[in-house]
Amino acid sequence: MPKAEDLTRYAISLRDVHKVYTNKAGMQYIALRGISLDIEKGDFVALMGPSGSGKTTLLDLMGTLDTPTSGRVIIDGTDTSEMNGNKLAELRNSTIGFVFQSYNLISYLSVLDNVTLPSKVKGVATKATIEDSEAMLAEVGLGEKLEKRPNELSGGEQQRVAIVRAFINKPRILLADEPTGNLDSKSAKVVLDILTRMCTENSTTVVLSTHDPEVAGFARHIIHIRDGLLENASSTRSYNYSLHDLMNEKEKQKKRHANDKK
Ligand SMILES: Nc1ncnc2c1ncn2[C@@H]1O[C@H](COP(=O)(O)OP(=O)(O)OP(=O)(O)O)[C@@H](O)[C@H]1O
Ligand SMILES: [Mg+2]
Repeated sequence: MPKAEDLTRYAISLRDVHKVYTNKAGMQYIALRGISLDIEKGDFVALMGPSGSGKTTLLDLMGTLDTPTSGRVIIDGTDTSEMNGNKLAELRNSTIGFVFQSYNLISYLSVLDNVTLPSKVKGVATKATIEDSEAMLAEVGLGEKLEKRPNELSGGEQQRVAIVRAFINKPRILLADEPTGNLDSKSAKVVLDILTRMCTENSTTVVLSTHDPEVAGFARHIIHIRDGLLENASSTRSYNYSLHDLMNEKEKQKKRHANDKK
């Protein structure tokens, strides 16, 4: 009998994941067509692909916000298809943080209350959480804005609040759907620096989606998706080239161009 695969070393593993959306009229749309991949614990991965290619769908499945039509989503070695709604919610709360393109802050709560809210839901001791939140908000340059409401902040500041909120419970996995999509390049850089630091300092596994190659350049690995399929997917270890390889490829291209001109 073949030995069972040991997936505990991965933060996220997908096995032949398909996602079919059915609308109210019964029309079906196949968003993912069989995705298999492994993301190592502590890795920083960028998900790239054209609009409609399935990035958000994939992140939703990785975050157990949605379930695949078929295939398996394995988080920290645990197969989520065997878990009920309550268990999934527990897993999400204890393991996964989310950052969305539109920040998703609660408009009537202060910056500080937005950040501490998820911990209150969990019933975690609030004094320590409040102190941690204040310290982290100060670290990202928002120490003076704890009592402001989201609409009094710039887009970049709101996204920093959203990232602090996602990190305050020290999730082992952070999923960010176009976290810099609405930001100017300076704010985007601040946000990416925070994500990079969280990844290196807390060993958080970060997966972000982006259309921007410069943003993807912050990641250690890039996964390319098109029409619901991984590109260059030759095996279950579906991404196997890094930014370093891409840079080498760019260098080679430059040299080829230079030679062509000679
Ligand atoms: N709830 C839904 N019902 C029906 N179809 C959907 C639903 N959500 C997404 N889709 C379709 O699935 C495909 C993948 O969508 P998804 O949002 O994952 O793409 P994306 O890569 O995140 O695109 P973008 O870069 O524009 O955010 C799209 O063609 C979309 O229209
Ligand atoms: Mg999307």
